[in-house]
Amino acid sequence: MACIHIQGGYCLDGEIFVQGAKNAALPIMAAAVLNRGVTRLYRCPKIRDVEHMIRILENLGVKTRWEEDGLTLDAADIKTAAISALDAGTMRSSIILLGALLGRGQEVTMPYPGGCTIGARPIDWHIEALKKMNVQIDSKEEGLHCRTKGIIGTDMTLPYPSVGVTENVILAAVLAEGVTVVRGAAKEPEIADLCAFLNVAGAKIRGAGTDSICIEGVNSLHDTEYHIMPDRIAAGTYMAAAAAAGGSIVLRGIGIEPVQAVADVLAESGCGLIIYEESIKIIAPSLLLSVRNIETQPYPGFPTDMQSQMMACMCSAYGDCCMTEHIFENRYKAVPELVKMGADIRIEGRSAWIHGPCRMKGCHVLAKDLRGGAALVIAGLTADGETIIHGAMHIDRGYTDICGDLRQLGARIRRSMNDKYDIEG
Ligand code: EPZ
Repeated sequence: MACIHIQGGYCLDGEIFVQGAKNAALPIMAAAVLNRGVTRLYRCPKIRDVEHMIRILENLGVKTRWEEDGLTLDAADIKTAAISALDAGTMRSSIILLGALLGRGQEVTMPYPGGCTIGARPIDWHIEALKKMNVQIDSKEEGLHCRTKGIIGTDMTLPYPSVGVTENVILAAVLAEGVTVVRGAAKEPEIADLCAFLNVAGAKIRGAGTDSICIEGVNSLHDTEYHIMPDRIAAGTYMAAAAAAGGSIVLRGIGIEPVQAVADVLAESGCGLIIYEESIKIIAPSLLLSVRNIETQPYPGFPTDMQSQMMACMCSAYGDCCMTEHIFENRYKAVPELVKMGADIRIEGRSAWIHGPCRMKGCHVLAKDLRGGAALVIAGLTADGETIIHGAMHIDRGYTDICGDLRQLGARIRRSMNDKYDIEG
């Protein structure tokens, strides 16, 4: 397994360009299946989840090519719509291919995408929504068998603003007969980016980014070039890193809106923020203050994907912080590793109580999920001595080059492949 080594105690200083958004790139890659032609995506992040999606798409018959500044997808010929157990198991977000393939008129078989370390991740709402759109879904031994005589637009209200369910309904509705209205939809910026891409490709979608989205079915989409939005979670991760490690950094290629909830927490902790059109400067205070209460919520609330990273940041802050995770039922996997480094964190139900400042000491720790791994990187930047993070491949799922980015900001951080150390030892 790959490891990340961090020599803690160095402030951050400098500027980086923010990578393209993982959670916009994945649904947009699935949406490319709706165009029986060529789609070119700029600012597509070279991360493991995108590589997994490329492999799944290629197994379906899509031709893909990385070029210096983007990813080209040719979906003229889809030869099969069977998603393998390996592919679905590797990445649960493959579930959004369901809507795209059904929208293209394919019969789809796919195993139940497994849960993951952050929760059971059921797909009941996906199945319920697609059945309302004239899709027959049979649960079989080998998984889901989905078919349709043609998607029919309909009016529906989601039981919860699920990001993936909203995306699946949009993807199924783009080429449907009639109009689909989704009420109670998720409002995440990545959904607005997906809809912006689809509209450039010829779709007719209104209301993206609000809780009520209207999709008027069209006959076909056409070839498109599209620039994917910046990754607000990668940006938030580096903002929290600067707040915890000290110093000041500039994030280029992103405005404040998608990171507003994270910026509000960091401003409350004493950070200075200078906002430009397409960049953000964050200046850490000499004394970082705890934020008393942080609760994860659907957008525009505080993002669950920033919960672990902000918890690590609050370990460096003075005072008590109560972090409450409302979205996933098992998203505190980084806590035992942070405690191993000296963090004073106590879990009570869905809340984590952080009593800071914690004297963090570098040691061997294990990344168990993507954002928990990013939290360990932040903790390593603040710790005395060297922190070695095992399981760095989890972090590679969502960050193009977290070591390169942080090195450019003055961190003492590097990767290694040797993973001999028995971290249980
Ligand atoms: C997306 O996951 C993101 N992934 C997640 O980011 C993000 O944490 C999540 O939205 C919430 O913002 C991608 O976009 C690829 P949900 P998704 O459906 O769509 C439950 C990261 O680190 N639920 O909004 O799976 C579900 O279990 C990843 O980048 C059902 O019960 O999230 C969860 O508790 C992690 N039944 C809640 O809803 C269903 O059928 C929210 O999930 C579907 C979901």
